[in-house]
Amino acid sequence: MPIRLDERLSKIASLISGGTVADVGCDHGKLAYYLVSTDRASKAIATDISEGSLKKARELASENGADELVITRLGDGLAPIASGEVDAVVIAGLGGDVISKILLDAHREGKRFQSYVLSPNTHPEKARRALSEIGQKITYDSAVECAGKLYTVIASREGQGALDELEETFGAFYLRDAQFEKRAAQELKYIASLIGGGASSDKLARRKKLLETALENIKKER
Ligand SMILES: C[S@@+](CC[C@H](N)C(=O)[O-])C[C@H]1O[C@@H](n2cnc3c(N)ncnc32)[C@H](O)[C@@H]1O
Repeated sequence: MPIRLDERLSKIASLISGGTVADVGCDHGKLAYYLVSTDRASKAIATDISEGSLKKARELASENGADELVITRLGDGLAPIASGEVDAVVIAGLGGDVISKILLDAHREGKRFQSYVLSPNTHPEKARRALSEIGQKITYDSAVECAGKLYTVIASREGQGALDELEETFGAFYLRDAQFEKRAAQELKYIASLIGGGASSDKLARRKKLLETALENIKKER
């Protein structure tokens, strides 16, 4: 039976095009089941550190007759997946610091994967930096709105892709992202109002500087 994904998971699914996929931290298992039931993936390995989550994923696949196409494995990060075992690795709904650790630990152990789709809840810059460090080039990087919140979605494939600080912070394609420009201008206005109201911290001043530079770069690019 087909299931509907929300905008965040739909965007992630749209970035998978064939082959096998690992969904690390699958929880409910909706993405893995959706990918195999719509032929976006030929097989999905759904992993989680929690047995309770895996049970949900297993039940969803089983109720829909997809037991053979969705394989569940218990474990931390990429530990349950062998090097090159899947064509794409998805890690969504975890913090950027955890995602970064998962990527770097696996890389240190010699594991290599062709492509990734990441959706960090927090600290997207850490996920972007980790991708560069493991020899992945970002091919998609944007924010998707879902239930009134913005979620970062990043896709990458093997290749060299060093990012500067602004690209790491705001997205690999911030210079050409009209939505980012709008959000950055709004955030800058908000920060200016905080500073005008007496707020002051190194972090605030640094963020203001980065936003100003990003907006100047966008103007220069036109
Ligand atoms: C918020 S849910 C996200 C579920 C799904 N990926 C999504 O984006 O809708 C986070 C899931 O990641 C799992 N998780 C947290 N840390 C993990 C780790 N180090 N390795 C594997 N799974 C982890 C949790 O048990 C939980 O099921």
